[in-house]
Amino acid sequence: MIDNKPEILDKMLVHDVFKQIRVMIFGANDDGRELFRLLKPLIVIGMIDVIAFIDNDSRLIGREIEGKKIIIPEKLRNYKYDLIVVAPIFFVEITRQLIDLGVSEERIIPYSEDHMRNFGDLDREFGNVKIGKYSYYKRGTKLINCDIGRFCHIGDNCAIGLFGHDTSQVTTYPLKYHFDNSVVDVGQDSTADNVRKLQRTIIKNDVYIGERVTIFAGVTVGNGAVIGARAVVTKDVPDYAVVAGVPSQIVKMRFSEKIVDDLLDIQWWQWSDDKIKSCIEDFHLDVENFVLSHK
Ligand SMILES: CC(C)(COP(=O)(O)OP(=O)(O)OC[C@H]1O[C@@H](n2cnc3c(N)ncnc32)[C@H](O)[C@@H]1OP(=O)(O)O)[C@@H](O)C(=O)NCCC(=O)NCCS
Repeated sequence: MIDNKPEILDKMLVHDVFKQIRVMIFGANDDGRELFRLLKPLIVIGMIDVIAFIDNDSRLIGREIEGKKIIIPEKLRNYKYDLIVVAPIFFVEITRQLIDLGVSEERIIPYSEDHMRNFGDLDREFGNVKIGKYSYYKRGTKLINCDIGRFCHIGDNCAIGLFGHDTSQVTTYPLKYHFDNSVVDVGQDSTADNVRKLQRTIIKNDVYIGERVTIFAGVTVGNGAVIGARAVVTKDVPDYAVVAGVPSQIVKMRFSEKIVDDLLDIQWWQWSDDKIKSCIEDFHLDVENFVLSHK
């Protein structure tokens, strides 16, 4: 466990090696509990002390995790601590909230760099990946040569834009790379996998991708689509379809054709943040009423 997450321990240990570090864990759900387990060896030897958990979920407040209280962020001022470690992926938002409550920024660290992969309120581009605002992905997820729209959530351990080795030749092993220091000319290989690897993978907006999903290179996933856990997606997914399985198949459409057309006209993901905030409750109406109000 510790070997998996050295960065958090490194960050803590640079703080002050001579005194016990008093830590608050932000997040009392799975991520926070996992972090607590990770820190246990250091707690046992007295190097750190976990003072309490912090959470915004009022249902958790007042409960305890292994004798540690769960408190609301506003109660932080009653505690003495050196560091707040943020366990959920919403590091950017939680940091903002804590700073508003008077916590100094250098006391706030993420559980893991992976937990920072929530790109906040800007469309971004890094390497060969574009990712729209508010989209996020979780631990162990690999993105290759792809365009991801806005408001997508992508689970743990997914691979998006996957391609592999040429299956049409004597061996799939990259012999030339090892013995000749050169790579095979991809243009010579006409297998489907090779054709795909030259194409970008497109994930449109408001897409929900479950855990351990693989999406092959060159696939387009439509707006509002849902990909079930552990699916292997080899073909395009229509807007608002739910697909699952290996290879994935459509298991249902989320809405009627008429509603899908209306949602695609409305394109709520293009709205400004202010507009979304001003009608946030409408997103919890049934979809017909949402469409009626915004067509
Ligand atoms: C895809 C998913 C969202 C569908 O949820 P839903 O809208 O409630 O759909 P249902 O449960 O009615 O499933 C519809 C059909 O697909 C099947 N199905 C659903 N998810 C499946 C999956 N991951 N693999 C294979 N089949 C699946 C169901 O068995 C059902 O089949 P049936 O019609 O023959 O009974 C959900 O099943 C899923 O996989 N969620 C992701 C969970 C996850 O990874 N969470 C962590 C990240 S947040």
